[in-house]
Amino acid sequence: MWSLNFTFPTEIVKEGKVSVVVPKRVAYVKEAWEYGPSKAPVFYNPAMELNRDLAVLALQTYQKILGREISVCEPLTGCGIRGVRFAVEVEGVRKVFVNDINSEAAKLAQFNFESNQLASVVLIMNEDANLFLSRYGAPRKRFDFIDVDPFGSPVPYLDAALRALRDGGLLALTATDMAPLCGVHPKACVRKYGGKPLRTEYCHELAVRLLVGCLATMAAKHELGITVVFSHSTDHYIRVYAVARYGAREADKSLQMMGYVLHCFSCFHRETSKEIVSPLKTECAECGSKLNVAGPLWLGKISDKDFCSSMKREADGRRLKQEKRILRLLSLVQEESEASVTYYVVDKICDKLNLPVPPLIEVVNGMKRSGFQATPTHFNSKGIKTNAPAKVVKEVITKLAT
Ligand SMILES: C[S@@+](CC[C@H](N)C(=O)[O-])C[C@H]1O[C@@H](n2cnc3c(N)ncnc32)[C@H](O)[C@@H]1O
Ligand SMILES: [Zn+2]
Repeated sequence: MWSLNFTFPTEIVKEGKVSVVVPKRVAYVKEAWEYGPSKAPVFYNPAMELNRDLAVLALQTYQKILGREISVCEPLTGCGIRGVRFAVEVEGVRKVFVNDINSEAAKLAQFNFESNQLASVVLIMNEDANLFLSRYGAPRKRFDFIDVDPFGSPVPYLDAALRALRDGGLLALTATDMAPLCGVHPKACVRKYGGKPLRTEYCHELAVRLLVGCLATMAAKHELGITVVFSHSTDHYIRVYAVARYGAREADKSLQMMGYVLHCFSCFHRETSKEIVSPLKTECAECGSKLNVAGPLWLGKISDKDFCSSMKREADGRRLKQEKRILRLLSLVQEESEASVTYYVVDKICDKLNLPVPPLIEVVNGMKRSGFQATPTHFNSKGIKTNAPAKVVKEVITKLAT
């Protein structure tokens, strides 16, 4: 029988359809600027509710595609809220396996599962995530879904997670180490993700592509190919959902999606290159300045239109607190799912050209009138994805602003 017997102050929070006990926030945040979750004895971050909401929608979408009961694993669970939500809010979840290295977290997770009448659905462990995942690496033991939601980078858990994922399984990854991924600490990014970041206006998209690139290369070592069904960049983190399938051919196909983004800081020109072996261009085709390189990274799709549209349908009737924001995000990700790699930021161009900033929608329409594809992007509220060259983007903006 569960009892509320913790050595630290607690409170009850409600998220989605569940209520769970978490460390009392005010007891650990003395100053307004302090980051509470990391000070508490067990991790719970209310700011990640949207991340968990989307995970519920993605998992339900995936379960319906499979059309059978699924097993779910959360190797870094904190207070257990994510796993509890999967068990309660996603139909067809047969079993949830959660784990945390912090014994207080494992205890609190146990309490939260039991108080939500989920004792028979859950298995809770208290050990290192890689050790935990490795126990499920044998073919018949693997999971349908693994959600890796760590502090910082998910890379240290990728190998074990891939081994513990069933053929055709779905892997979700959160990365919060945006300083390396966005090029503030490029060496750390190369070390961790095996690709060079670039401090451009579209660095958040590059961050997603660096993480996916790292996943694809790691997966290929296990003869696994990946398909990214959904990804987003929100607040201080990025998130990627990818299906992994066994087969040397699948792995080779994934690796063909690897390449580089070449960027000119003088004229906004950018291009992609899959030339992994031959030397990369060093001079901008538009202005002759030096080209800067990001990568190797993933140049393939980073979301799937149909998957996004199913996630939107799944949001219906759930009364999520941030429903409007979620639907807007899903619509944007869906719209940009087939757009070109990288985006232009209108403010940045106007700043450089010393022009007033025209409304985004006018720029989008202007690009379309010029015969190009154009769509806003969820990555940046002032961003536009288009197949138009930088020269045309600048011309359209200049025309609108003068
Ligand atoms: C960001 S929190 C998890 C939050 C949780 N997924 C959620 O949605 O609320 C990361 C968790 O990983 C745990 N952790 C850190 N290193 C670990 C390791 N090597 N093995 C297992 N758990 C670990 C921490 O104790 C912490 O609870
Ligand atoms: Zn240039």
